[in-house]
Amino acid sequence: MTAIQSELISAIRSIPDYPKPGIVFRDITTLLGNPRAFRRAIDELVQPYAGNKIDKIAGIEARGFILGGAIAHQLSAGFVPIRKKGKLPYDTVRIAYSLEYGVDEMEMHRDAIVPGEKVILVDDLIATGGTAEGAVKLLRQMGAEIVAACFIIDLPELGGRKKLEALGVDVRTLIA
Ligand code: PRP
Ligand code: ADE
Repeated sequence: MTAIQSELISAIRSIPDYPKPGIVFRDITTLLGNPRAFRRAIDELVQPYAGNKIDKIAGIEARGFILGGAIAHQLSAGFVPIRKKGKLPYDTVRIAYSLEYGVDEMEMHRDAIVPGEKVILVDDLIATGGTAEGAVKLLRQMGAEIVAACFIIDLPELGGRKKLEALGVDVRTLIA
């Protein structure tokens, strides 16, 4: 394990039985509140794409917004919010998805992507991959070229990374 990985792991708090019994919730608020760990996480996530022409960062509500905004700034890209249903004011495309502890629906604005734009999908964590899979489908439906999907945390035993890779998505994660 690298020094950065141990630093990130020690900056994340684990909460047993949240939001449901049996789930160990990986809480990144402690990492976000640590100036050095937050900067290092963002720097590590963007490093392979520095100098590439990335048009848009798509961030998944809610934690993907925090990371995605910082990454978009660093790559001089636009930001596209993928939100839980009912939050976006204009015409949307919507998809149902399941995640480690529930089911929900997500949406994005129909005009958020110009077909052919190069997009990086961002979230804090990939578990079952249900959330990210839904986002990939929405983005592709709108004509996005997905350059990569980036997460700080991978929970490999839940199979999300493999699910995205099977869709032909390049997955980048910092710690497991
Ligand atoms: C969490 C996390 C990912 C998703 C991963 O979000 O931030 O978006 O779960 O789970 P999956 O890989 O099993 O789909 P959550 O739905 O809890 O939303 P929040 O960020 O609004 O808390
Ligand atoms: N999203 C899905 N599973 C999660 C977990 N174990 N911790 C934090 N966010 C999650």
